[in-house]
Amino acid sequence: KVLTLSLLGLAIAATSAQAQDYEEVRIGVDVPYEPMEYRTADGELTGFDIDLGNALCDEIGVSCEWVVQGWDGIIPGLMARKYDAIMSSMTINDDRREQVLFSDPYITPPSAWFAPGGTELEEISEESLTDMTIGVQRGTLQDNYVTDMYGDVADINRYATADDMVLDMESERLDILFLDFPVGKSTLLDSEEGDYTVVGEMLTEPKEYFGDGFGIAFRQRDEALAEQFNEALETLREDGTYDEIYARYFEA
Ligand code: ARG
Repeated sequence: KVLTLSLLGLAIAATSAQAQDYEEVRIGVDVPYEPMEYRTADGELTGFDIDLGNALCDEIGVSCEWVVQGWDGIIPGLMARKYDAIMSSMTINDDRREQVLFSDPYITPPSAWFAPGGTELEEISEESLTDMTIGVQRGTLQDNYVTDMYGDVADINRYATADDMVLDMESERLDILFLDFPVGKSTLLDSEEGDYTVVGEMLTEPKEYFGDGFGIAFRQRDEALAEQFNEALETLREDGTYDEIYARYFEA
């Protein structure tokens, strides 16, 4: 009897430990989203999120495995335990807070409109966008915003990946596109493939759409894991690691 009871005790201890203690953390990510997450010429994952994520895992003392997942299914994949976290330039907002638990924000870039250089557009309005073709990545907050604000006057092309959208811009199938500023900067402003410019204002408001910066998403019950990432993030901000990674991708 004593034996059965202690075995039962062990089993309980083992299951509750499993819910909290990860030796390996699998992280879901949608690529390419340069410079946040993309592949080098030889296929290695790289980018701000990847380097920061790896540094956070080192600091926590877990090993990290990146799992590539299309943006469309990225939250369902977390729920289905294909991975334990999402680090994919995901903006923290109230809609998503209902489904996932977010870390503290680790970077807070605006959204921006990108168009071919010489575009006559000076500001963004229902009027100026009438009959234009706007590109967004499907299921992003940029998709939600553009759909709600300009869905009645403009044509919206929704892309599975940011790369498909940039390619369509380069082949002149889009008049304008709307995405996270660093990604448009790296893929259009800094590219050799033509001449592009930012149009209108960069947006961080309203919060309902543009939220509170990019966060790492976890399953709701993984509070302990989220807390470990928050503490590690604080450490990397204090010891200079964060700044070093930031400079690698944003100050080159
Ligand atoms: N920040 C935007 C959002 O949260 C877009 C993120 C897309 N990320 C990616 N890796 N494709 O909706």
